[in-house]
Amino acid sequence: MLELKDLHKSIGGAEILHGVDLKLAKGDVLAVLGPSGSGKTTLLRCLNFLERADCGEVTLLGQTLNMAAASRQEIADYRRHTAFVFQNFNLFANKTALQNVTEGLIVARKMPKDQAEERGREALRRVGLADKADAYLAQLSGGQQQRVAIARAVAARPDVIFLDEPTSALDPELISEVLDVIKQLADDGMTMIIVTHEIRFARHVATHVLFMDEGKALAHTSTNDFFENQTSERVRNFLGSLNRKDD
Ligand SMILES: Nc1ncnc2c1ncn2[C@@H]1O[C@H](COP(=O)(O)OP(=O)(O)OP(=O)(O)O)[C@@H](O)[C@H]1O
Ligand SMILES: [Mg+2]
Repeated sequence: MLELKDLHKSIGGAEILHGVDLKLAKGDVLAVLGPSGSGKTTLLRCLNFLERADCGEVTLLGQTLNMAAASRQEIADYRRHTAFVFQNFNLFANKTALQNVTEGLIVARKMPKDQAEERGREALRRVGLADKADAYLAQLSGGQQQRVAIARAVAARPDVIFLDEPTSALDPELISEVLDVIKQLADDGMTMIIVTHEIRFARHVATHVLFMDEGKALAHTSTNDFFENQTSERVRNFLGSLNRKDD
């Protein structure tokens, strides 16, 4: 359903991504793992054209785009099929939960307000926040705010959702409510790419793992092979260091 070929990206003269490939079928959940600074966020941002790649090709639902040369219109069409969930939520602080979810539908998609609100309420229900629709952001916890951001993504009815460390800005006790919502989406068949440091979650929910190291995809396999039959010493050391932190 989604295929990325040979993505290169430089920032300030230094190449950060050195030719990354990945492939996703409908319903796949790809966990992107790897050390800090390995290029995970840059990869995801390039995939949603929040950053412009130097070269690369992305095919989504049979449409292929040259990532360096795609026009505004091509990018807008592509983004009708995608949604992005940010580490820091990226919500409007002065709006209610429902307004945050419907804003994009009304403004960007020109959807009538009552139709957008119906969709918005349904999306909020899916993340367990039906009763918070009219609450302002400041009245919500970090975990609830991130669930609003996920509801906003879901309300756009995307074919794939990109999530960049959706729980890393949260207090530890709020992480599981957000992971539970993401797991529910996965169980419902939503296709997702999730950058995460939550290894146990990745192991439990992801169908595939992409391991990034120094701007390259060091491994791209099924979750089972990644954890059970890992041959790369680099990856084993990384997983080992996380296990030690858990102890
Ligand atoms: N705007 C920028 N200007 C300069 N360098 C940048 C910029 N954004 C990213 N980089 C560099 O690109 C590399 C990859 O960064 P990126 O944020 O993609 O890593 P990451 O894998 O998401 O790390 P983390 O796990 O810490 O979020 C890093 O070396 C980083 O310093
Ligand atoms: Mg990052």
